Amino acid sequence: MAEAQAQQRGGYADDGPATAEGGVRFEVDGEIATITLARPEKRNAQTFATWSALARIGDSLPEQVRVVVVKGEGPSFSAGIDLRMFTPEGVPGQGSFSSAARSEGADFEQRIRQAQAGFLWLRRPEIVSVAAVRGHAIGAGFQLALACDLRIVADDVSFCMKEPALGLVPDLTGTKPLVELVGLAKAIDICLTARTVHADEAMRIGLAERVVAGGDLDDAVREKVAQLLSTNRDAAVATKRLLQGAQARTLEEQSVAEGVEQAARIKALFG
Ligand code: ACO
Repeated sequence: MAEAQAQQRGGYADDGPATAEGGVRFEVDGEIATITLARPEKRNAQTFATWSALARIGDSLPEQVRVVVVKGEGPSFSAGIDLRMFTPEGVPGQGSFSSAARSEGADFEQRIRQAQAGFLWLRRPEIVSVAAVRGHAIGAGFQLALACDLRIVADDVSFCMKEPALGLVPDLTGTKPLVELVGLAKAIDICLTARTVHADEAMRIGLAERVVAGGDLDDAVREKVAQLLSTNRDAAVATKRLLQGAQARTLEEQSVAEGVEQAARIKALFG
């Protein structure tokens, strides 16, 4: 890829004073965007600034982007929410759970909705999101991996939905994809025990598309991205839309939806 194209929007997704806390790096190289959680010294712990940085990336994603890769710098994908949220002091400039508990009415629920926006856009039909996961993916880290369409993992991966062990529920959009991927019984098992799911099980139960040695993770992701970019863009968008709607529709309704999308494709290709 030409150098001029690389890093079209490199640098940190900036949130003014919260930049260092957000710790999210964003790069665009042609049709590929890469989001990197970049606080390895804190195992890429996430804060509200992280989630607003993610949401801003989603809001301003360049139109040419087809694939979004989400990864973490250092040995862990993400150790989940920043544990300072549990302390009375909280995260500087972002409060704590104690201050949230004192907030009025639906204020905190609104704040959660804003945080979720950082995760929800990764399912847009216009893109395919790929999580490259090595090491720990705990709590919010597990949910960020679940927010992506595909997960390619290193053999040292450990997924853990720790929230119930800490008295919380997983609220960063992770419960639905988890149930869809592994089924209700397995999702209950994973969440309500807060146990760790390692690579072999992740592969077996459908959490991971592929497991590779840690040193091969970047290459495996590159290979998947190349495969994803090899298909027709508009057909890929329409097909993802169909697949995403499939579970909520009857076979009859899905067949109708397929016909509608195909008619549009034929018109676009041959009209
Ligand atoms: N929040 C804030 N800081 C963190 C977090 C976190 N979630 N996780 C790790 N760190 C910090 C550590 O405090 C340590 O900082 P220090 O060097 O200033 O002391 C640094 O990251 C490295 O952490 P270690 O524990 O030394 O790293 P190690 O590789 O041995 O262990 C592990 C990694 C297993 C992830 C461990 O750090 C851990 O258990 N973290 C907490 C995980 C957690 O409970 N997350 C909340 C989940 S619930 C949710 O997300 C809603």
